[in-house]
Amino acid sequence: MRKPIIAANWKMNKTTCEAVAFFEALLPKISGTCEQVEVVVIPPFTAIAACRPAAGGVGIGAQNMHPEPSGAFTGEISASMLLDLGVSYVVLGHSERRAFFGESDHFINQKLKRALASGLTPILCVGETLEQRDAGEVAAVLDRQISGCLADVEPSALPKVVIAYEPVWAIGTGRTASPAQAQEAHSLIRTKLSMLFTKEAAEQVRIQYGGSVKPGNARELLACPDIDGALVGGASLAADDFAAIVLAAG
Ligand code: PGA
Repeated sequence: MRKPIIAANWKMNKTTCEAVAFFEALLPKISGTCEQVEVVVIPPFTAIAACRPAAGGVGIGAQNMHPEPSGAFTGEISASMLLDLGVSYVVLGHSERRAFFGESDHFINQKLKRALASGLTPILCVGETLEQRDAGEVAAVLDRQISGCLADVEPSALPKVVIAYEPVWAIGTGRTASPAQAQEAHSLIRTKLSMLFTKEAAEQVRIQYGGSVKPGNARELLACPDIDGALVGGASLAADDFAAIVLAAG
């Protein structure tokens, strides 16, 4: 039985005051769901220290991390710096980082191995562009991203990885994958994981859907057999909307 995981990816939004106010509004609304649903908020780096004491039972994630433990990498953040702030999750390979910052599957793989070795839970993002979908390349793209980003990971470590299937054409566009489209991609990902690792390990991996998840569509997406949670961008900025999505998973 996979525990649903609902995560708020705030991207480059919210000051420390706004972040603390969000938790004050959120926590009373979701207090009954902590047993059934794993809830994670992923603020910008600058708000993490303020969020940790305000977050109650909600996990805190980071939006990125560098693979090296320390050194001359101006502007970067290491795994131990995140652990130092009480961070437990790290988003890796988000399509915005792939597109705007040129991150490759190989670089993401280095980060992912460092995250696992450090005890952080990686949330690995994969997904195709609209051009790739229209060209019939969904399976090939997911295959390449999954095998590249998870290279050299031990089968015993795989269940610690959370995967977020985020079709690029659905992110921030208001255009959500239909439950059938999302389920098909999630099932492809799980099949690929069982081929690369073991069926047992693949069955334990939580696969989130991301891309214009809202209170109005969360329930039908989360009802699909291989959809084990959501990575929510825009709708996670308002506590009411994010709470409604958490409740839809409970
Ligand atoms: P969105 O973003 O919910 O605003 O589409 C999702 C994401 O990028 O993680």
